[in-house]
Amino acid sequence: MIVIAHRGSSQLAPENTLPAIKQALHDGVDAIEIDVQLTQDNKVIVIHDEWLNRTTTGSGFVFLTPYARIRRLDAGSWFHPRFKGTHVPLLEEVLEEVKHTKVTLHIELKNNFIDYPGLEKQVIKLVKQYNMEERVILSSFRQDSLETCLYLAPSIKRGLLWWGSLTPLINNSLWQKLQLYSIHPSILFLTSEVRTLRKKGVLIFPYVVERKSQLMLCRRLKVDGVFTNSPRQIRKLLGQNFG
Ligand code: G3P
Ligand code: MG
Repeated sequence: MIVIAHRGSSQLAPENTLPAIKQALHDGVDAIEIDVQLTQDNKVIVIHDEWLNRTTTGSGFVFLTPYARIRRLDAGSWFHPRFKGTHVPLLEEVLEEVKHTKVTLHIELKNNFIDYPGLEKQVIKLVKQYNMEERVILSSFRQDSLETCLYLAPSIKRGLLWWGSLTPLINNSLWQKLQLYSIHPSILFLTSEVRTLRKKGVLIFPYVVERKSQLMLCRRLKVDGVFTNSPRQIRKLLGQNFG
């Protein structure tokens, strides 16, 4: 089962920062997930929330703030004083960090609340610039965004994020229309319906798996991988003959 560090190893380091990426690499993960958004001046940055308040010393919306101002903010001290001085990274910095490794990078286009016209194009351009086409999975909750990705770069894998019951997915051909590599359902809604989806040839990566009971369910349903904030613990559990 593939272990994907959710927002980096975000239990041990501030989410979506270079220390969290480095921690994930140190933890020996197979893949790392990050969230990306656009700043006011159209830079692709790595951050989960649409506003700066929770994970930085700043405030306000990402899309209304130029990167030069975001760069000066502290994105580490909210997590722990020893991460003081950590900055909000550009996507390029993460690509630079992982390009000489073997990990797969899940780039979540965080465009479900705020529309970022051109985000897909910019992300794809950077992925190509770093020759990472084969080791990237582009994901989004938005089907139209994945459709844009399919149009712009059919060879880069696409994963659909899904919140809620899996039933609607069984009865349509979305996976076919978007030529999906994977579906990423919330662990809260995981049922045996994933078996039907897997039979269609789509990989299943539930998010976010933290508890042993959740991992047991994933193993029972034979999912292909899990997003977790705690890759070290999950790898340890997987190494044991639990449940
Ligand atoms: O990619 C899986 C997961 O990251 C989706 O939810 O809100 O943590 O980005 P969120
Ligand atoms: Mg995410």
